[in-house]
Amino acid sequence: MFNKNFIFGVSTASYQIEGYTKADGRCPSVWDEFTKIKGKIADSTNGDKACESYIKYKEDVEAIAELGVKAYRFSIAWGRVIDENNKPNQKGLDYYIILCKELKKRGITPYVTLYHWDMPVWLDKLGGFLCDDISDYFEHYTDVVTKALNGLVKDYITINEPQCILFAGHRACYHAPGTYYDNKDMLHAIHNLLKCHGKALRAIRKNVKNSTVGFAPCSRPAIPQDPNNKELEKLCYEKYFELTDDEEFANTVSIYSDPVFLGDYPKAYYEVFKDILPKITKEDLELISQPVDYIYQNYYSGNYYDLVDGKLTKLPFHAGFPEGNVDWLQVVPETLYYGPKFLYQRYKKPIIISENGFCNNDVISLDGKVHDPERIDYINRYMLELERVSKEIDVRGYFVWSLLDNFEWSYGLKKRFGLIYIDYRNGNRIKKDSYYWYKDLIKKD
Ligand code: BG6
Repeated sequence: MFNKNFIFGVSTASYQIEGYTKADGRCPSVWDEFTKIKGKIADSTNGDKACESYIKYKEDVEAIAELGVKAYRFSIAWGRVIDENNKPNQKGLDYYIILCKELKKRGITPYVTLYHWDMPVWLDKLGGFLCDDISDYFEHYTDVVTKALNGLVKDYITINEPQCILFAGHRACYHAPGTYYDNKDMLHAIHNLLKCHGKALRAIRKNVKNSTVGFAPCSRPAIPQDPNNKELEKLCYEKYFELTDDEEFANTVSIYSDPVFLGDYPKAYYEVFKDILPKITKEDLELISQPVDYIYQNYYSGNYYDLVDGKLTKLPFHAGFPEGNVDWLQVVPETLYYGPKFLYQRYKKPIIISENGFCNNDVISLDGKVHDPERIDYINRYMLELERVSKEIDVRGYFVWSLLDNFEWSYGLKKRFGLIYIDYRNGNRIKKDSYYWYKDLIKKD
């Protein structure tokens, strides 16, 4: 049981569901380009068609309404609403205006993500997050969107998963645009990305009455193997926020969240990177750390830790450990206990889980339905942990990833996370068992 104002929601993202990538003057994004490169997408698919939500949005909104959630998190494609001359594209804006009106009509609150990875190619060519004007472009884009959606949207998420944007897109390079950044460039890009967040936040506060704003990082918490060992829990907390100079530093929590919530990069940042720091001014830090309303966080899995010979050690997952059908999705429900708890301890703001969900080999059964007991089990276990932590800290909401099966980035269309199955041959939607389970849960709660 969550409190009565608890927000149950579902989420999606523009490139993953919309399709119609050439409609109404949309300019290409880095994902349109990246998916053309041989070998980048596991099943060689792309988002050209995806779920065709650009025309099937009414059906999707109806499914959200029937589900009973009161919140829908979706993202806006920058390249639909701003053209290559940096001017507003009314046709693109109209799509989101109509979508929001449809949601409002049914009492569903839109939670709008401004950037879920589909950077317009023309901006990427200017340097993307390495371009020092990128935050001005982002502010302008935000200004256009917030004015167009005024009266329809008040809840905004500036940026989804900075970790994936920069680590997956520019270090490991399995995401678009796939251009490698060395450490110096990476720090520069991180700083520019945080300035994008700050300037967007400024524009939202200026244009939207009673706005709520946050950004939505992702992370894998360190989980104490022994829940009764308080010393171990403390070490796990420290591990979770640790910043090192290894290959993965762009994938960590504190390098983004400390500046946003605490007003500065962690101490270790200035020590570890002292020779390659970007230019950071007091004004930048003030911009980045303007007050936000929530800690949004996308959580899927975590790692267990224990003390081995007195040292904090990551434990391997045993053979046959339950997992989804992507290699990073081990079923670790305590993720939704310790993750929010640690974030709250450090940043002291209400928490909303902006994504959580399960990827499975779903099939249409002989009875024409899609049975997905593993997804139900996963969400159930995770929500129980969230409920447990909500007795200790301020947790406000939970969004399932995802409403629909969709284009899962480098995995293509083959990996399915939806509560609703998409038959990609004809675009038909089939509500899975998990959809009905979630519906019942919301009704009961
Ligand atoms: C998150 C993203 O990383 O997890 C989503 O915000 C994404 O956009 C989801 O689809 C699942 O990840 P993946 O890599 O399996 O597509």
